[in-house]
Amino acid sequence: PRSYSVTLLPGDGIGPEVVSVAKDVLSVAGSHEGIEFRFRVMPIGGVAIDSVGVPLPEETLAAAKESDAVLLGAIGGYKWDGNEKHLKPETGLLQLRAGLGVFANLRPAAVLPQLVDSSTLKKEVAEGVDIMVVRELTGGIYFGKPRGFGTNDKGEDTGFNTEVYSASEIDRLARVAFEVARKRRGKLCSVDKANVLEASMLWRKRVTMLASEFSDVQLSHMYVDNAAMQLIRDPKQFDTIVTNNIFGDILSDEASMLTGSIGMLPSASVGESGPGLFEPIHGSAPDIAGQDKANPLATVLSAAMLLRYGLGEEKAAKRIEAAVMETLNRGFRTGDIISTGMTLVGCKRMGEEVLSSIDSQKALT
Ligand code: NAD
Ligand code: IPM
Ligand code: MN
Repeated sequence: PRSYSVTLLPGDGIGPEVVSVAKDVLSVAGSHEGIEFRFRVMPIGGVAIDSVGVPLPEETLAAAKESDAVLLGAIGGYKWDGNEKHLKPETGLLQLRAGLGVFANLRPAAVLPQLVDSSTLKKEVAEGVDIMVVRELTGGIYFGKPRGFGTNDKGEDTGFNTEVYSASEIDRLARVAFEVARKRRGKLCSVDKANVLEASMLWRKRVTMLASEFSDVQLSHMYVDNAAMQLIRDPKQFDTIVTNNIFGDILSDEASMLTGSIGMLPSASVGESGPGLFEPIHGSAPDIAGQDKANPLATVLSAAMLLRYGLGEEKAAKRIEAAVMETLNRGFRTGDIISTGMTLVGCKRMGEEVLSSIDSQKALT
């Protein structure tokens, strides 16, 4: 059998609950395709702060780098919110992304036919939406310097950050986005704030220059405020969106609500080389943690992305996606996507139903 090492980073809050489900799904889907996984569980985020003293222990980054792919649950929680920056769970996640060099974050948001009624938008607006957000992940205001706290000339406290992008950072991300768009419906919308921000002016210039290498892709530009509005007004106008780190963070959460719940949205983060990082776009959901209420499907679908983009195991990825569809067809819903006539289940049970959907596929083939 083909054998891969996968680093599991369950993290905080609902992270361990959803990763536990996704791990079992990976194992079972893999076994049907002759794939064997060696899992290694490592601490990150709040649990790492509590056990090792830092949000990203050296051993965790080393294990992640040595493995074939990394699956993360979520990090963060009230307990650590008041910590200094270098001791925040979120800092550990940013260090992991930077450490792995995963600059391109793919966040698909597709409205599944089974969940049209879970969308807060009208059926005719939500139906058929299929968007891929390509978010820059290792630059921009999240990492830009100077940053910090200071004092202004009136003696007032200040806090400051810097939005900065180099041409090469924009180019490598734009290339990924053009490639993604080319394999989809051939439309790429670059979202920026080039009417105000220099970093966005350079962004627009570089993306426009690169378009000549991808003449089969239709490129358009949109300001981020308009994009936020257009996503709700007429989301079907979008195919692939490419944008910076912070706009991508915000627009992907917004796009998640087209699909019914943030609990459904997976992501894949990839770099030039080395293992990819796969994680749901949601956080640690402290309000429902430890109650077996979390929707594990975002993480299960992230495991499918791990197989597709991280390991090139397309058939196993398709198995997982088909099993998720089948589980929804059979009427199982966690609380975040429940609608009338459906069966309310918890996180664990949802996982068991996905596993049984995978097993029934085997009987069919
Ligand atoms: P969140 O995504 O954790 O939760 C927002 C809302 O969505 C909550 O009501 C939550 O219950 C719900 N939700 C999220 N995931 C769900 C799921 N799988 N199933 C059902 N409902 C789900 O965002 P937040 O509350 O703003 O942040 C909580 C913590 O998570 C913070 O510490 C934040 O920094 C962190 N965070 C981490 C990540 C990450 O690890 N990648 C992402 C976002 C936020
Ligand atoms: C996400 C999260 C993170 C981000 C935080 C927790 C650092 O919101 O993965 O979307 O802003 O990238
Ligand atoms: Mn986010």
